Amino acid sequence: MIKHRFSRVRMWRFVGIVIAGTAFSNCSALTATAAEPATGAVASAGTKFSDHTRVMGTAKADCKKCHVSEVAAAMKTVHFRSAEQRLYKFTGNTKKYADALGIKQAELLSTSVCADCHGTVAVEAGQKTVISGVSCESCHGAAGGEDGWLNAHQSYHASMKIPRGQETDEHKAARHKKCDTAGMIRSTDIYGLAKNCYGCHLIGNEKLVAAGHKAASVFDLVSWSTGEVRHNFFMNKEVNAAAPSLWMESEKGTVANRRRMKFVLGMFAQVEATLRLLAPASEGAVIKQFRTPLRDAAELLQEVDTPETLEAGELVEDFVPSRTGKKSEDSEEYLSAADEIAEHARAFVKAYDGSTFADLDEIIEETPAYYSQQYKQTYGEEN
Ligand code: HEC
Ligand code: HEC
Ligand code: HEC
Ligand code: HEC
Repeated sequence: MIKHRFSRVRMWRFVGIVIAGTAFSNCSALTATAAEPATGAVASAGTKFSDHTRVMGTAKADCKKCHVSEVAAAMKTVHFRSAEQRLYKFTGNTKKYADALGIKQAELLSTSVCADCHGTVAVEAGQKTVISGVSCESCHGAAGGEDGWLNAHQSYHASMKIPRGQETDEHKAARHKKCDTAGMIRSTDIYGLAKNCYGCHLIGNEKLVAAGHKAASVFDLVSWSTGEVRHNFFMNKEVNAAAPSLWMESEKGTVANRRRMKFVLGMFAQVEATLRLLAPASEGAVIKQFRTPLRDAAELLQEVDTPETLEAGELVEDFVPSRTGKKSEDSEEYLSAADEIAEHARAFVKAYDGSTFADLDEIIEETPAYYSQQYKQTYGEEN
């Protein structure tokens, strides 16, 4: 049994840590990269791909040509195996949940809500089709289309023939901008990455939850992205670095700072995503399961002494459901609170790079890398 992590979150409160944050003004690393979150991933907590015709699939996009170790690592995860395990076999809980929603076996692998979270859905011959489990594009954004991010991503020069090492700084900046605009979620955009995780790890579908499906993973960005999910091989194919190696090189980022930023931004993302799902929620079973993620993330935000985190934490207090139900029935209020949280998060990204939050390390070190049971059985807790 996996221990419910949020009980530990509550324990952390007794430590009574208040993290003083001093805004810094000259960190080019984060201000330069505080681009608006990528478009494809942020519209709501439940957004997966907004346009399935842009989904290429790892094979067709040939990510492996340049990212062989990342692909190898991703293939070992339960993400990769999820379609095979949850969509291909019409038995057990899969059948139970599908039946409850009136989903037929064939739909599981095309238009079902299940396919959006347990697989990667592309359009082939005009038909939505599951082409794999959770894939590169599920987390980094749909890559295809003439103006999609993959074309920009792999062109280091207008002629396409110049290798990456010879790319000019101007060209690189323009290329990154194109990728961001086209919806690529890059390592620099921690908030975008986090919100995207919650798009699948918080489940708002009330019928599904009523049928017995979890409403919320016991998720936190730091540990859940450092276990089997980690694939930071860019600078060295043999070494899975503790933070994105390209980001460390080009943005001069450090492992410690990144973990601190992931910790705080993960909490912001958890709050925003939960509020968006609470807005339309009416079933007690669903509302109840969002109570803990919302309350605990808000409490942790309030432990970090910056205007952005304190205001966000305070704002949320009015929205944490009681044991009997929601405090407000006005869904607009939840959505505008979620918008405000997103604004605070963006301001936070602009103002800090993590270097002033050393006091958080004690908490973060208590979060071990998270491996699924299946991963542990097959590979052990090794990368
Ligand atoms: C032709 C080679 C090539 C292909 C194909 C390719 N990449 Fe990359 N990728 C690179 C290079 C080179 C970089 C480093 C770019 C830089 O310096 O900005 C990179 C960096 C990245 C990064 C980190 C970017 C950042 O700024 O944080 C991600 C994420 C990524 N690639 C994902 C993918 C995915 C997913 C695919 C397949 C859909 C893919 N790549 C296909 C060459 C490629
Ligand atoms: C919003 C995303 C989302 C949707 C929609 C979704 N799932 Fe899941 N599902 C998940 C996540 C995330 C987990 C893992 C939860 C965890 O353990 O933290 C999961 C776990 C499961 C499991 C294993 C755990 C169990 O309850 O037995 C099954 C089976 C499953 N889902 C089937 C389905 C089916 C069938 C559908 C559609 C009827 C569906 N899921 C829809 C995200 C989703
Ligand atoms: C579950 C979501 C998820 C999936 C699936 C995923 N990535 Fe990532 N990727 C991330 C996150 C999160 C980071 C930043 C990691 C960190 O903060 O340590 C990242 C970082 C990267 C980097 C930067 C590595 C470095 O050393 O700088 C590359 C390149 C990359 N991913 C490529 C891929 C490719 C290729 C695939 C498919 C084989 C893929 N990713 C699948 C979430 C994902
Ligand atoms: C497209 C939907 C999707 C996205 C995006 C996604 N996940 Fe998942 N994730 C799942 C599903 C579904 C499962 C459950 C797989 C199963 O059991 O079939 C899962 C399982 C996991 C697991 C293993 C948990 C366990 O015990 O089985 C980890 C760790 C994880 N996800 C981390 C992340 C992180 C970190 C991110 C963001 C960087 C992320 N996920 C983004 C859908 C997603």
